Amino acid sequence: MQDTSIDPRVNLPVRQKTSLLESEGRLRHVILASQFDRERIDDLCKVAEQVREIAEAPKGREELAKLLPHLNVLLYFTQPSTRTFLSFSAAARLLGMGVEHARDAEMSSEAKGESDFDSVRMFASYFDAIVMRSPKADLAERCAYMMNDLADAKQNQRSVPIINAGSGKDQHPTQSLLDILTIKRTFSRSRYEELHAQDPKHAFGVSQLDVGNKRYAFCGDVGRGRTIRSLAELLSNYENVSMCFIAPDHPKLQLSDDMRNLLLKRGVEVEEYGSLDVKAGKKWLLSTVDCLYMTRVQSEHDDNDLKTFLKTADTSGCHLTVARVHRMKPYAPILHPFPRDSRVMEIPTEIDNDPRAMYFRQARNGLWARAGLLAHIFGKDKKLADVHADFFRERHDYNR
Ligand code: NCD
Repeated sequence: MQDTSIDPRVNLPVRQKTSLLESEGRLRHVILASQFDRERIDDLCKVAEQVREIAEAPKGREELAKLLPHLNVLLYFTQPSTRTFLSFSAAARLLGMGVEHARDAEMSSEAKGESDFDSVRMFASYFDAIVMRSPKADLAERCAYMMNDLADAKQNQRSVPIINAGSGKDQHPTQSLLDILTIKRTFSRSRYEELHAQDPKHAFGVSQLDVGNKRYAFCGDVGRGRTIRSLAELLSNYENVSMCFIAPDHPKLQLSDDMRNLLLKRGVEVEEYGSLDVKAGKKWLLSTVDCLYMTRVQSEHDDNDLKTFLKTADTSGCHLTVARVHRMKPYAPILHPFPRDSRVMEIPTEIDNDPRAMYFRQARNGLWARAGLLAHIFGKDKKLADVHADFFRERHDYNR
């Protein structure tokens, strides 16, 4: 198959692409953040919560492992990864799936000149889904269209779902899903009640339960952080959301034009700053935000121009300090997709014990979000809801 037959689809407007990535009303491939509209996000987060609640008990884990024991997933990661790789692996195992990985293109037939497409098509012979991370921005997307072509009636070949676990500087849809799950859990009714009981003036407002009606701040490598791009896009589905972007003073690190236009078109109020230590009107910027999303500078993408800039630039305005955290609202979560860069410490470890530091919980939410997503793709969400209902009914009976 010629790659050129795929080009027109890669160049389609996003809205048209999303239907190519679905099948019978559910996600078949997960490639773009745009596939997650409000309804789908809420639905996938509900499934993730069910997984989490069931998994709390050993008996629940036994039930989860009965969901997809007949399926095997390949984790094809040709870019460094710890959390995404391990959480996908743990999520697939939680549902009973077999898991294998291919991480090093140098150790595979790609070293003998095999194309990415041949490799992925071969993998589909042995596995039922391919989760892939690649430095190439649109490789996962192209592979998804190749799988669609293989499935069509004329070819009737083996074809499996493709899940994008991070593509170039562009997209990281499953990270944004777990980020939203973390935001939802942080702004849940139970947390509201807990904070309210402690000190009502420190709780967030009732209108802020869930994701909408908030001011989000993103700090660090705004231009090249695929997690920021994907999360900002998801958040723009919610009502009355404003966003501040804080990045060092270099165009490649600052909000890109395409992202700014997308957000403005969706009615998001956008503000841009060069440091966390600035005032927004009369107040410190950090005292005005409801949620802060930190990222590291993605130095693996540095070109010479950026290397020179970063050698001399003072980027400390984009790092958190204890004093800066003190300015934040008492309930405002601090998120970070991790890894943090231990050479610069954009979040110093002293902040880890602050109740607002959510990044370790955020990583754990990746397990639930990814297990929920796999259950959805393979049509097991209804079964999962039944297991959840039964399980809680049973537990309730035991407790009587
Ligand atoms: C992120 C990534 O790979 O884009 N990490 C992750 O998946 N949790 C962010 C990063 O590497 O900085």
